Amino acid sequence: MSVKVTTSTLMKMKQEGKKITALTAYDYPFAGIVDSAGIDIILVGDSLGMVVQGKETTLPVTMDEMIYHTSLVTRACTYSMVVGDMPFMSYHGSLDTAVENAGRFLKEAGASAVKLEGGADVCPVITAIARAGVPVQAHIGLTPQSVHQMGGFKVQRDEDRLIRDAKDVEAAGAFSVVLEGIPSPIAAKITEALSIPTIGIGAGAGCDGQILVLHDMLGINDRFLPKFVKKYADIAAVAREGLEAYIKEVREGSFPSENYEYK
Ligand code: KIV
Repeated sequence: MSVKVTTSTLMKMKQEGKKITALTAYDYPFAGIVDSAGIDIILVGDSLGMVVQGKETTLPVTMDEMIYHTSLVTRACTYSMVVGDMPFMSYHGSLDTAVENAGRFLKEAGASAVKLEGGADVCPVITAIARAGVPVQAHIGLTPQSVHQMGGFKVQRDEDRLIRDAKDVEAAGAFSVVLEGIPSPIAAKITEALSIPTIGIGAGAGCDGQILVLHDMLGINDRFLPKFVKKYADIAAVAREGLEAYIKEVREGSFPSENYEYK
């Protein structure tokens, strides 16, 4: 596998029209699989609140939990660029606190960048963090940390606002922007208008790259999946099959057989 992906790699990919692949991961074994498969960006998403911790939203996830999970992921990666997701309320107070929290992802967890949600409203935060030497990926459109403000996980359709937000986060210093839950024609327009790469989730094929939540696309759990998720595997079914075989063999006494015994 070639050298580790950086912000320059991603910029070059956009310029050359090469699609960027991204997925989430939250622990060492899965990050190792994703990294060795050649995925360009691994986001340690605060979606871990929903897919790993079993919570209703991403809001309860803490900085310490994000640092812990990000450090598990970075330990496994030799190719993918690791981005740590700043959790709810970790960048909404003073700029100093936001910069300090962003810095923890690089200093303590070994990430190469952070992601945070919001458009024009978070531009001063993006600028302060980027000036401190921490690359920032922005995230606009359907921003799950604002679920209560949006009145649910809803597709965002205000074209003027979305285009303004995208241009503002680029001007503020973001190296990339995630476009979530945005009609495809608007996402394609944003992608055309920006010089930084756009990474889409529920935003159509016109983005510079795509990201999905690993547990959704691999079928690791059985939770409700939004329309934009394609299930590429059914890991839960494979795991259940193995577990049922184990239960059967233990109950009937055929495991452990001689091959699995010490003499
Ligand atoms: O938390 C997350 O996993 C995310 C992606 C879905 C973009 O923000």
